[in-house]
Amino acid sequence: MYLPKITDDIIYVGVNDRNINIFEKYIPVNNGVSYNSYLILDKKTCLLDTVDFSGVRDFIENVKMALDGRKLDYLVVHHMEPDHCASIEELLLRCPDVTIVSNAQVFKMIDQFFNIKYKKLIVKENDILDLGNHQLKFISAPFVHWPEVMFSYDLTSKILFSADAFGSFGALSGNLFYDEVNDELYLSEARRYYSNIVGKYGQNVQNAFKKVSNLEISMICPLHGYLWRENFDIIIQKYMKWSLYEAEDRNVVIVYASMYGNTEKAANILAYKLASKGVKNIKIYDISITNETYIISEIFRASHLVIASPTYNMGIYPKTKELLDAMIRLNVKNRYIGLIENSTWAAFSNKLILEELNKLQGINVFEQKPSLKSSVKVIDEASLQSLADEIASSL
Ligand code: FEO
Repeated sequence: MYLPKITDDIIYVGVNDRNINIFEKYIPVNNGVSYNSYLILDKKTCLLDTVDFSGVRDFIENVKMALDGRKLDYLVVHHMEPDHCASIEELLLRCPDVTIVSNAQVFKMIDQFFNIKYKKLIVKENDILDLGNHQLKFISAPFVHWPEVMFSYDLTSKILFSADAFGSFGALSGNLFYDEVNDELYLSEARRYYSNIVGKYGQNVQNAFKKVSNLEISMICPLHGYLWRENFDIIIQKYMKWSLYEAEDRNVVIVYASMYGNTEKAANILAYKLASKGVKNIKIYDISITNETYIISEIFRASHLVIASPTYNMGIYPKTKELLDAMIRLNVKNRYIGLIENSTWAAFSNKLILEELNKLQGINVFEQKPSLKSSVKVIDEASLQSLADEIASSL
């Protein structure tokens, strides 16, 4: 059997989807996604979650191979989003006697998604499923990412099965554990995953953390991406920052919208002025070129954001408005923000963007808000310099 074991009697039966380009038909992914699933081979056999329908054929083969002729006793469902639950019906066709174990809200969703008959065992917070040697304790984790989400903690192996939490985009390539790859790029994808998918629910993530903070944990097994063992502090510390809306880095991300290059020029001049004051690791993104989910991830990472944007039909430039909507939707907080506007015949951008930013908590907007008239003139350099001075002194 080629399927990897994560312990002597827990087998990884998940699948990779490298055909997917857009996760949730909204978020671009460049390196696929893994849908993780685990099978515990104890006196009772217990499968933890299923996979997206795109991987059902391999998944069913994996489960069959890992069972090696044994019958499946339990299926624990931690989360009912179809990237994890879509194969339940196919599994039931092969294992009609399996008992599905989950909370009442999950069963309500199963009956919404499927028209199937099945055996069920409803569990509540802190209930324990005894598999013989392993004992799974259930911990509700509402809104990490959907309201029905729960974790389970194996009292025997000390493994936390964490549903979407600690997951990421990116298919797995043989190695299952982060410590086998130590890939910084993966961590930035984990941030993009968290910020765009779970970002709105920081308080709920904090609540779930409190419930598991006293547990002795040997391994974290999420439903996407790498598993974590001795070095899981790396991802926990990042989750603490992200869920508290604290910046990881004190540096500046400049985002510009520029139809004809003039607002872009102002963004570049500001960046040079910041650099000349010793500011390091400045990042600049064209909002019309870089997908919004990458910019959101950068906003979760960095302490300072500058938005340079023209007035458009007396309103906010559409791509800028989309970014602001995403920031509001995802509960961005606690950031320093600078504004630069450009207009030829109506200067409304800064004012209207400020109205949107006022919907966020903990936002400090710099006093100096350069307002260009069509292009950057010598006279504008003074206001750009003042903004650079304010930003640099706040870093
Ligand atoms: Fe990976 Fe919220 O599902």
